[in-house]
Amino acid sequence: MDGPERPEDGIRLLFGEAAIRERVGAIGAAITRDHAGRSPVLVSVLKGATVFLADLLREIRVPARIDFMSISTYGQEGSPSGVVRIVKDLDQDIGEEDVIVVEDIVDTGLTLSYLLTTLGSRLPRSLEVCTLLDKSVRRIAPLEIRYVGFDCPDVFVVGYGLDVGERYRNLPFILALDRPDEAAEHPDLLLPFLTGEPSVAGPVEGG
Ligand code: IMP
Ligand code: MG
Repeated sequence: MDGPERPEDGIRLLFGEAAIRERVGAIGAAITRDHAGRSPVLVSVLKGATVFLADLLREIRVPARIDFMSISTYGQEGSPSGVVRIVKDLDQDIGEEDVIVVEDIVDTGLTLSYLLTTLGSRLPRSLEVCTLLDKSVRRIAPLEIRYVGFDCPDVFVVGYGLDVGERYRNLPFILALDRPDEAAEHPDLLLPFLTGEPSVAGPVEGG
């Protein structure tokens, strides 16, 4: 694999920048083809999907629009209940619009399935899902996902919008962490990956 890895820390590169760019380009081309002559609204759920959205948007060659939603899920992190509260709603009315929900990752699918029910009740012309990562083995709520970047193994991932303890969304690639708790406890653990020379860095002192 190209790029940084620190297998000694249980950290490895899962999807590199070039692979992500290639998939984002392909999805943008597919959306362009499928929405010819239309002006789809890309609905993004804050905050994880924003990096993907920004790149995807520039690969779409029809006049796309964007809108944002912020939600909070009840229940503990890692065990979503599927009960969702809308913290920030869309600015635009999506009635009769072509809506594409853009997600960073679909895990159990509980959050998204709730969201789709809510958005569907507003009677859009079409309602589809686009996700960069699909943790399909973890799915609880069955979902139809029209556009998928990568199938993702059942491992915690960070980077390209995805966070660990709200940090490292700015990594331009996606890492798999065997021990996400450790990374949350020691915020500097992933620091070498931001500078791009992690393979020459020594073991990181925790803390
Ligand atoms: P679910 O599909 O309802 O289980 O929840 C999906 C949400 O959980 C995503 O939008 C992410 O915010 C979060 N999530 C799931 N897996 C990961 C991961 O591996 N890293 C970071 N966030 C994750
Ligand atoms: Mg999310």
